[in-house]
Amino acid sequence: MPKQKETPTKGVKDEKFISVEDALKQKTGKVALRGWIYRIRKQKDKIFIILRDSSEIIQCIFSQEKFQKEWKDIDKLLNESSLEVFGVIKEDQRAPTGYEVTAERIEIIHYADNFPINKDQSPEFLLDVRHLWLRSRRITAILKIRSTVFGAIHEYFRSKEFYEFHSPIITAGAAESGPTKFLVDYFGEKAYLTQTWQFYAEAAIYALEKIYTIAPSFRAERSKTSRHLTEYWHAEVEAAWYDLDALMELAEGLIKQVLKRVLEKNQKELKILERDPAKLEVSLKKKFPRITYDEALKFLKEKKGHAIKWGKDLRTIEEEKLMELFDTPVFVTHYPKEIMAFYKPRDRKNPKTAVCFDCLMPDAHGELIGGSVRDTDIEELKKSLKSFGEKIEDYEFYFDINKYGAVPHAGFGMGVERFVKWICSLDNIKDAIAFPRTINRYKP
Ligand code: 4AD
Ligand code: MG
Repeated sequence: MPKQKETPTKGVKDEKFISVEDALKQKTGKVALRGWIYRIRKQKDKIFIILRDSSEIIQCIFSQEKFQKEWKDIDKLLNESSLEVFGVIKEDQRAPTGYEVTAERIEIIHYADNFPINKDQSPEFLLDVRHLWLRSRRITAILKIRSTVFGAIHEYFRSKEFYEFHSPIITAGAAESGPTKFLVDYFGEKAYLTQTWQFYAEAAIYALEKIYTIAPSFRAERSKTSRHLTEYWHAEVEAAWYDLDALMELAEGLIKQVLKRVLEKNQKELKILERDPAKLEVSLKKKFPRITYDEALKFLKEKKGHAIKWGKDLRTIEEEKLMELFDTPVFVTHYPKEIMAFYKPRDRKNPKTAVCFDCLMPDAHGELIGGSVRDTDIEELKKSLKSFGEKIEDYEFYFDINKYGAVPHAGFGMGVERFVKWICSLDNIKDAIAFPRTINRYKP
């Protein structure tokens, strides 16, 4: 085994190292870099190493003449080995990022084994070695955008003076819909992983009025689709005194704020992903259309020749056909009351419908947000629950909330991975999260 630096952490405190991105900005002079081998190409008397760190890649040249003593060691390096490289940077149009480092000194931190990932591997294999595939430029770019998205969501709600509020992950069960709940053996009793913070949030608005969270939600989804995970990050909001219009205003502002930040911070990543920023800029500039369910049905029939019966939910196919007519997100409001969750109130003006919306995304990305005003009428709530075959006693605490100074309030939930999927234009939601969980995968 060739010699290798003993303590990989040595140098961590050493401030002379700069990121590859900063080296590219520096353009000339001495640089000290550290990272991993992205590609290595060997000639008789020269070795070209493309060095990668979290910021960028850069070509480094090692000549045999200068590295007589270390030549054998360098020659043994494989992809993903970790290194420190000291040298001089200069412009070179032929190099992948336009600059090249002529190496003067090298410290080999760790010799990598043969890296199992190379070109043309199946998506399933790449998911099996996801712990290694994270290093790919593509996943790294998505994860950076994801980080911007989370930061911007927090920033948005805090700028509007919402409090961050946390609800339990382990719950007694009352939630969105029965069959998609994950069962937990809670010391011999049945508990469930949360699907939404909503009922806890509705309790908390009586203390804090305006609250939000970003937390994991769990759905035991049995379907294999490109937009369902079993564990996803859910950005949710609940606000006292809000009506449907105020809620949609808040949702539209959220989407725009996140887009703004991504367009400011992640141009490079969008380029790596070959995502046209102009497609996102449209949504920043235009006001999002608001149409009712009735209008959606009319559009489908008249403009798409696709008729569905009033009272049926919009399925993926209808959502996609409808969204072919738009290039920004669209709010579809006032779905039929009978097919909506029990907490969505009946619209007084049109009692067959509920005061709710779904926010649908263009380019076949489907539903991003579901939201509604909340019903505070205990008798109505009980009637709805019964019609869905739910046990009234499971919801006692929810009725209790509405007994003491109930006020109009509203809230929504947004799947953060769905948002990332749209921003990055991913075919599958699995790539919007580092370690996806789906019906047939919970490893690695
Ligand atoms: O429409 P949903 O089921 O609404 C609720 O849970 C409400 N209680 C939210 C609220 O009002 N506080 O889910 C909200 C959003 C969906 O629009 C979708 O973006 C996302 O959560 N979502 C999923 N994302 C990934 N994988 C899944 N299996 C998802 N199920 C829902
Ligand atoms: Mg929904």
